[in-house]
Amino acid sequence: MHHAVIAATGLYAPPFSVSNAELVDTFNAYVERFNARNADAIAAGDIVALLPSSVEFIEKASGIKSRHVMNKSGILDPAIMHPVLPERPNDQISILAEMAVAAAEDAILAWGKPVSEIGAVICAASNMQRAYPAMAIEVQQALAINGFAFDMNVACSSATFGIKTATDFIASGSVKAVLIVNPEICSGHLNFTDRDSHFIFGDVATAVIVEAASQTTGGWEILGTRLKTVFSNNIRNNFGFLNRTALEGASTKDKLFVQEGRKVFKEVVPMVSELIVQHASDLGIDPRSLKRLWLHQANINMNEMIGRKVLGRDPAPGENVIILDTFANTSSAGSIIAFHTTNDDFAVGEIGLICSFGAGYSAGTVFLRKR
Ligand code: COA
Repeated sequence: MHHAVIAATGLYAPPFSVSNAELVDTFNAYVERFNARNADAIAAGDIVALLPSSVEFIEKASGIKSRHVMNKSGILDPAIMHPVLPERPNDQISILAEMAVAAAEDAILAWGKPVSEIGAVICAASNMQRAYPAMAIEVQQALAINGFAFDMNVACSSATFGIKTATDFIASGSVKAVLIVNPEICSGHLNFTDRDSHFIFGDVATAVIVEAASQTTGGWEILGTRLKTVFSNNIRNNFGFLNRTALEGASTKDKLFVQEGRKVFKEVVPMVSELIVQHASDLGIDPRSLKRLWLHQANINMNEMIGRKVLGRDPAPGENVIILDTFANTSSAGSIIAFHTTNDDFAVGEIGLICSFGAGYSAGTVFLRKR
């Protein structure tokens, strides 16, 4: 069996950032218009008036202060309330692939080796832009990589599932290096008219190169990977190619992200904490000795609770990395952004953990030791 390492990572952050204040101003303008337009029906009790959103609530409930997005003007126009991303002709690179390529180029530059050494590309993300051809194959072609490529979607856990898949490919000797990309245009599946969730997501792309340990010095030894899934409807998006076949006229609301936030919080925190502690124990690692946690960036309260359960104490500053204040929830990319931006102070031998969790439910752990 061949051991695998994370040899390099990359990040692409879209150029536009939206603050909570900007988002709330737009949402509240939308609410005012809606309530004015429906004043009679609201007075008659036929429609419930919409309530305004608030910056204070968003920061307290989620820890998010701003998010990057691929288009700002549409999101902040109360008459539009979604990103405006013009369709591209088929002979032009698609927007999701373009983001993935930017993150991949960042990782390849850090890696410093020719792409001819990469044998496979995995596009692991929450929402693919189209049914086929696979996004990963478009990325593979744009980067002139040989071998094979495919897409996989395990929602917010896609990146760790991708790392696990790459690690297994390397263990079996199928390839020597795998490029995993996680392009996420979460703003495209967010309902910006929904008070409960309009603030949750941001857009970003990350990339990870997993390589056979024998091929390289340095990097991060993958000590162990573990995946877990348990079916739940509490985070769901019903968008799909069968939507147009529902003649009864299904609601459009659930064709975007919907969740039962409180239930998710209550059910996912114990599931993830137990997975981490059990996996650490099976690897002979004391979770309290971990130098850093790079958790999925879902919600500050959720992340802090998992951090406390795993470390058995209040994490010291920087021990449980939080980047969702400026990126928001970026689905599969969150834990990779956290890892990418806060790992250069590790000494050889120190151990950290990448961990994802999200819709499915799904969760994945990747224990890493600095080489
Ligand atoms: N602005 C102001 N007030 C708001 C609001 C908004 N945008 N949205 C909701 N509220 C109000 C509610 O009406 C409610 O008021 P009430 O107490 O008078 O009834 C109150 O705030 C609390 O609402 P609730 O939905 O219970 O908030 P919460 O504290 O559970 O936080 C989430 C909501 C979504 C941030 C939180 O449940 C969460 O993060 N859950 C984890 C889910 C997650 O991260 N999923 C991502 C996939 S991993």
